[in-house]
Amino acid sequence: MAEIKKIGTIKVIICDDSKNAAKHGAEIFAEVINKKPDVVLGLATGSTPVELYKELIRMNKEGALSFKRVKSFNLDEYLGLTGDHPQSYRYFMNKNLFDHIDIEKSNTLVPDGTSKKPEVSCKQYEESIKKANGVDLQLLGIGSNGHIAFNEPGSPLTSRTRVVDLKENTINDNARFFSNKSEVPKKAVTMGIGTILEAKKIVLIATGANKKNAVSKSLNGKPDTDIPASFLQNHPDCTFIVDKEASSQL
Ligand code: F6R
Repeated sequence: MAEIKKIGTIKVIICDDSKNAAKHGAEIFAEVINKKPDVVLGLATGSTPVELYKELIRMNKEGALSFKRVKSFNLDEYLGLTGDHPQSYRYFMNKNLFDHIDIEKSNTLVPDGTSKKPEVSCKQYEESIKKANGVDLQLLGIGSNGHIAFNEPGSPLTSRTRVVDLKENTINDNARFFSNKSEVPKKAVTMGIGTILEAKKIVLIATGANKKNAVSKSLNGKPDTDIPASFLQNHPDCTFIVDKEASSQL
């Protein structure tokens, strides 16, 4: 069971737990993909989407969903990590989704973390999104500091795909994926807030008590660069799917 409310422009679905949140998210994805088989998806990495990806894999294996004509753009990638590095986001996406579904790998795009000319490859990434007629459905997680993709606090509303410095608390949060905190890259390539807001539909998933501050500030405060996710209030079709813990300050 889920409680649904509207906070400003944003639809908020409050689920009992993270498993149900993933199920709700997967249902939205399945509906959109089934309606438009050549849909363009924006995808995220991190702990939050793993369960949702498992659901999509299950639906694909059961024949209820096909990714044959789907194209995808990932939000971000660590600077300096090659796609075969186990902590790179390309590797994550292959392992947690692409290797298990019928998507064409050549239709899955992830920002290039190893480009010798990152400004050029960031521009090309934006151009590829445009050429695909934009993202139809964008999946987001949220950082405990309110970041979306790697748009850290201070990122402008108009920001585009670019190289960014990661904040100390993002490095601390992500250290759990590395054997040592010193191995966490200090920089990343990320779609900008302006890029993300151009997606036709946005679904943000937030679960766990460490997201409750970021969630309440994103929804209850005025849009502000200190909490990048608060800029989602400017989007006409944005849904937050949260569990009880992440919604406890709403
Ligand atoms: C990942 C991304 C990040 C994460 C956020 C939450 O592609 O863009 O913004 O969504 O850091 O990460 P988790 O889900 O690990 O808590």
